[in-house]
Amino acid sequence: MLGAIGSGVVNGSEAPIGVFDSGFGGLTVARALRDQLPNEDMVYLGDTARSPYGTKSIGEVREYALECLDYLAGTGVKALVIACNSASSAVLRDARERYDMPVVDVILPAARRAVRATRTGRIGLICTTATATSGSYDDALVAVRDVELITQPCPLFVEYVEAGITSGPELMQAARDYLLPLREAEIDTLILGCTHYPLLAGVISYVVGDEVTLVSSAEECAREVFANLADSGLLHDEPRTPRLQFLTTGSPELFAGVGSRLMGGFVDRVEQIYPM
Ligand code: DGL
Repeated sequence: MLGAIGSGVVNGSEAPIGVFDSGFGGLTVARALRDQLPNEDMVYLGDTARSPYGTKSIGEVREYALECLDYLAGTGVKALVIACNSASSAVLRDARERYDMPVVDVILPAARRAVRATRTGRIGLICTTATATSGSYDDALVAVRDVELITQPCPLFVEYVEAGITSGPELMQAARDYLLPLREAEIDTLILGCTHYPLLAGVISYVVGDEVTLVSSAEECAREVFANLADSGLLHDEPRTPRLQFLTTGSPELFAGVGSRLMGGFVDRVEQIYPM
């Protein structure tokens, strides 16, 4: 247990937004939130001690994700953002009922945007193995007619991002292996169904071709958070310098190092909440 804290209560617009990911990928969502909601405080929790989630069973991911979300809910946040496709896939059904506050995931907003973007109905999805096997995007699109989803797990991409590799011959070869079948399948829209992947948008677009529209689950999720807070009267409207707090279950030094390398100085003070 993370020393947790219950299921949370409704908190007002002054309270921070809680953002959860298995590790670093959710920082792309946090950055999109910072850009789209610059007056909002944030508490970010990365379960780096137990990441990656994308290679684990859905049952295991579900257990870890709910534990982390319970913890965040207990810190007094006003909304929960599940900034991880693998975790969203594992808890999509329960999370909204479990917490007494808005809960936004990354799957539904990205699936909706892809449906709006496609002209041919041929949508590609790249994601972790956990997200692919969960079928969460297929479920999200099941009611949409004339859309075909072609799924390609890309397990090596997370490793490249976390090693700071976003270009170079090895990554290019992996990208060709994963993405050329999607290109041959004549997709016109590609969902970046893992929150690490916006950091590889350059190489992904280069390989699939710039005629393919990339849908970032991070950007779409941030838009959805704005809409959700606006509808619930929970936006913080006053200009201010927001407080960003970073929590990790693993090493704070590692988190600060990888986080600020990936995000360009955006991650500074990091606290550990669960010595493993
Ligand atoms: N960022 C996570 C996602 O969106 C993947 C990273 C991991 O495997 O933990 O699925």
